[in-house]
Amino acid sequence: MQQLSGGMQNIENGQLTKYNRFRNGDQMKGIILAGGTGSRLFPMTLVTSKQLLPVYDKPMIYYPMSTLLQAGIHEILIISTPEDLPNFRRLFGSGEALGISLSYMVQEKPEGLAQAFLLGREFIGGEPCAMILGDNLFHGAGLPLLLKKAAKKERGATIFAAYTKTPERFGVVEFDSQHRAVSIEEKPEKPKSDYCVTGLYFYDGRASEFAAELTPSARGELEITDLNNRYLNAGDLEVVCLDKDTIWMDMGTVASLWEAQEVVKRIQQENGTHIGMLEEAAFRQGFLSREALAAYAEKYRATAYGAYLKNICEEGKKY
Ligand code: TTP
Repeated sequence: MQQLSGGMQNIENGQLTKYNRFRNGDQMKGIILAGGTGSRLFPMTLVTSKQLLPVYDKPMIYYPMSTLLQAGIHEILIISTPEDLPNFRRLFGSGEALGISLSYMVQEKPEGLAQAFLLGREFIGGEPCAMILGDNLFHGAGLPLLLKKAAKKERGATIFAAYTKTPERFGVVEFDSQHRAVSIEEKPEKPKSDYCVTGLYFYDGRASEFAAELTPSARGELEITDLNNRYLNAGDLEVVCLDKDTIWMDMGTVASLWEAQEVVKRIQQENGTHIGMLEEAAFRQGFLSREALAAYAEKYRATAYGAYLKNICEEGKKY
């Protein structure tokens, strides 16, 4: 990891707030889309952001952010509503404490997932960029390798599809007999498969340019499905199907939020591992020093979270 001194830019009022600490170019950037209305979680989300609600022992956003870190991404833009963005900033600041670089941007209205690539245009700067939805949880032993592979790709896009019993709620991938993706339909009445597009997308440097060509859908949103189809039609979209051992959850309904809590609790209690651990992910990627990890373990010493970090820290001493 290379660090630059200074270079901190802080423009408020809907402008990009950027903290430049990394000399970049070779690393993919990442966006966490953490705005929206959260109406399916009302009244829980009337005065707080969905992505800050607790999911077992940590705020929801920890899960998607740790996924970006696992992909080796350390330059991240958080996009949220005017009301909620300050709370994300209070939680993470510049990211320096985690050894990463965070920027912040307001989305005035929830005008669609693909709008992130217009709002983030300056941040992205025509470089490859991943995006993850702030209410998505991914977990699986095979995942880090898939993420690294997607992040290394210089040309084209990679998205991940998962089996679902309710495809009509999502973007659905149609496959040909060779299992190649041929179309993606947003919330179709008659889904052409049981595989839906999950909330994790890796794009090459053309994403903002393609997003600028999109027009709002009937529901008034810039659809990520249209951006994906843009890449698909150009022959530049890879759809990776997640295997059955990989967990993917969208935590946007009361039932799925509850289920996610149960899943995290079970994994953490039964497998002796923790998931969604930002400090662990940053440490394993070499962004965070062992001393800084130890400081987190000490700060959280009253919790199982802190005890787990302490173990990781001790294990780190062996290397
Ligand atoms: P959704 O679950 O589609 O929308 P929502 O979070 O507003 O929820 P609800 O339908 O219950 O009102 O959004 C998926 C994710 O993307 C979620 O993390 C919120 C985020 N999002 C934005 O940040 N901006 C947007 O314009 C949209 C549509 C979603």
